Amino acid sequence: MASTYALIIGSGWDMLAGEDSGTEVQTAWGVPSAPVHRLCLGDCHVLSMARHGEGHTLPPHTINYRANVVALKKLGADAIIALNTVGAVSDVRDSGQIALPDQLLDYTWGREHTIYDGRRGIVEHIDFTEPFSGALREGLLAAARGAGIDCYDGGVYATTQGPRLETAAEVDRLERDGADYVGMTAMPEAAIAREVGLDYACIAMIVNRAAGRGDVPIHDDVEASTATARHATMTTLQAFFRALQ
Ligand code: HPA
Repeated sequence: MASTYALIIGSGWDMLAGEDSGTEVQTAWGVPSAPVHRLCLGDCHVLSMARHGEGHTLPPHTINYRANVVALKKLGADAIIALNTVGAVSDVRDSGQIALPDQLLDYTWGREHTIYDGRRGIVEHIDFTEPFSGALREGLLAAARGAGIDCYDGGVYATTQGPRLETAAEVDRLERDGADYVGMTAMPEAAIAREVGLDYACIAMIVNRAAGRGDVPIHDDVEASTATARHATMTTLQAFFRALQ
């Protein structure tokens, strides 16, 4: 079991931003998206970082994922719970619900995606067969279920480059490839976490049906569904950290 947890949060998570002024961290891979805050959940001390920056100014393809993960490691984290909004590709989940994906597809390009970039003088290939921590996923699932939250166990998260949303044909292709959800931020974050030895799990918050799948415009779907998915996520996190006490 991990002892220090970090949250990597998306936009609109004021309640998880922490009340301290935050710690600025420098890393060998540059400066993270935002200072790292400390907050109390249950009675646990948890680190928290805003993936897109505190003013939500960084689109997914410009985020310094290496600096973010390395900064959390430097401050003592041994596990990351990532909160990622996604669109539903398959019908295992609908808007407003949450899931704990167990697999990843990576369609991103041009991102600085590894700390094994040659400068360490070694060639390393992490085992990424199972990209998410089984123990962390199980803990979060048990917490969700105990709190009465309908959280889907598994599914494939496809990471696209963004910042634009997909075309309907692209989403059809993602489904043929086996994807259940589509988002823009789980990779390379999950792989870098594995490289630095941090457990990593992602709570996928389904905020819309992916392009070509819904019967309302995507942005209307997001508007209508985000608060529900966020409530399910917050309830799960509170139950998870309460259970650790
Ligand atoms: N596509 C990609 N990323 C997303 C989506 C989507 O439909 N919804 C939320 N993040």
